[in-house]
Amino acid sequence: MSSTLKSLRALSDPTRLRIVALLEKDELSVNELQEVTRLGQSRISTHIGLLQEAGLLQSRREGKRTFYKLNESADDVAREFIQLAIRGAKEMPEHSTDQINLRRILGRRKEQAQVYFNQVAGRFDRSYGPGRSWQAFGHLLLRIIPPIVVADLGSGEGLLSELLARRARKVIAVDNSEKMVKFGANKAKKNGLKNLEFRLGDIENPPIDANSVDLVILSQALHHAADPAKALEATFKILRPGGQLLMLDLLKHNFEKARELYGDHWLGFAEGDLHRWLEAAGFKKIEISIVASEEQPPYFQTLLAGAVK
Ligand SMILES: C[S@@+](CC[C@H](N)C(=O)[O-])C[C@H]1O[C@@H](n2cnc3c(N)ncnc32)[C@H](O)[C@@H]1O
Repeated sequence: MSSTLKSLRALSDPTRLRIVALLEKDELSVNELQEVTRLGQSRISTHIGLLQEAGLLQSRREGKRTFYKLNESADDVAREFIQLAIRGAKEMPEHSTDQINLRRILGRRKEQAQVYFNQVAGRFDRSYGPGRSWQAFGHLLLRIIPPIVVADLGSGEGLLSELLARRARKVIAVDNSEKMVKFGANKAKKNGLKNLEFRLGDIENPPIDANSVDLVILSQALHHAADPAKALEATFKILRPGGQLLMLDLLKHNFEKARELYGDHWLGFAEGDLHRWLEAAGFKKIEISIVASEEQPPYFQTLLAGAVK
């Protein structure tokens, strides 16, 4: 049978005109069409089958449900038939009730999508969301980094340095462990990060020129320094005027085992001590806050300190 004849046959039934008109703007499932038209499921399925066979509808599966809509790639003839069908449906007595029911169902669909978020609002930051992780947020935030020169002091093997190097102009990673520096440098080379340079050195006297970097990162490194105040003075020295220090470290704790377990020299820092050392080094706009708290013993808390030269 020709496609014209198929279309004519498909649209020869008033119920099928109603279905075409209902699908004019939105896709609907068989259940939803059933609710709007009050027709039985098998009748709807038969009508849909005929409309699909004539190339007037297309379908999309979503889990166990199938949604139907007007065929977007229908040829010109089929498009004309669809328009005629919609015009015909508008002349039918059921049309206004169909449209009211359609609006109700679409409204409910929207509400259902909001139900979950309405339920979790206020505790969303603590509830699981697919693909929603601090790691992913980290990648997003890194995109905001302008092309600056960064020094990552006590970098370890460069977890953060590597991420920063994908955006920054240059990253200098300093660590006093030869093995860390070697491992980090090899990894950076393997990953093609030419703007990431590892240097062996101490955070109390980093091998970096004075007034040369825009940002210094001290991530969980200061509590390893023998003299933290001296390390902060050295940080100030290598920053260019207006440059920024961002530091993550532990809030003062009394988990003595950290010395043995993690090689820590200081058991975190009191906010007051940090503030005093930063001020003495010459920093301005000092801000220190607790940004993370562990819920298991020994309940470490993480400080984020920011300051400007
Ligand atoms: C806990 S790790 C932190 C690594 C990285 N910054 C991070 O946040 O994942 C501490 C690093 O500081 C290095 N380190 C310890 N004392 C140091 C010092 N005085 N000067 C330079 N690096 C030091 C260690 O070798 C180690 O790689």
